[in-house]
Amino acid sequence: MNRFQHAIVRTPGASFANGLTTADLGKPDLDLALEQHQAYCAALVKCGVALTIMDPEPQYPDSTFIEDTAILSSRSAILTHPGAPSRQGEVASVGQAVEKHYSALQAIRPPGTLDGGDICQAGDHFFIGISHRTNAEGAQQLADILGTDGFTTSIIDIRGSELLHLKSGIAYLGDERLVLVDGMETLADFTGFETITVEKDEQYAANCVRVNENVLLAAGFPKFATRLSTMGYHTITLEMSEFQKMDGGLSCLSLRF
Ligand code: GLY
Repeated sequence: MNRFQHAIVRTPGASFANGLTTADLGKPDLDLALEQHQAYCAALVKCGVALTIMDPEPQYPDSTFIEDTAILSSRSAILTHPGAPSRQGEVASVGQAVEKHYSALQAIRPPGTLDGGDICQAGDHFFIGISHRTNAEGAQQLADILGTDGFTTSIIDIRGSELLHLKSGIAYLGDERLVLVDGMETLADFTGFETITVEKDEQYAANCVRVNENVLLAAGFPKFATRLSTMGYHTITLEMSEFQKMDGGLSCLSLRF
């Protein structure tokens, strides 16, 4: 698995509670969200990355979920065109932060739409989700760009599932090992990967993130936490309650590259 050198995050802004959500978990507490975000930042630093913290953009309440705005790999940087119109303006400022690290930026163009949360890199292969945010045109544009970069891709249609984004149900741990939420295995062919299943009652935990020697894991999912520890992973458990209320997971809160 590539070693991540950098991460970019964006602090939640005063309008955070006005973002998009389907969760029925109540209104988020901004102070608690800021505390949880600080702990997330500290965890990334502990994982050895140089962290860029972008200022909030209050006109974009979902902009703390920065992962949706770009696909960053060792070979290229691709700005997205998010599927939710209220989020499309988030991309410009992320482009300014990303261009400091890459010689060129590519982009998903309309009518293509694509959210970074629908993209799961697994070594030299990318799983690309078609969801209610990422459309077939956006998925194909990304597959074409990644193909030019020498990556292989496969497209997984998750529109019939309850997942918001592909990575709501899948994570890559390195060493050809995928985390899949129970039932996901019916959506695609994961031949060549060892799979670890997360039970439905711990579904939110499937959105974990391997960052160098550690796996970031949402707090409150003891079965999956024990499983990872038993397998020898070093886990950092993070409280995510306020982001879960806004349909956000651990991966959504950073761009890692
Ligand atoms: N609240 C995150 C999203 O719906 O994109």
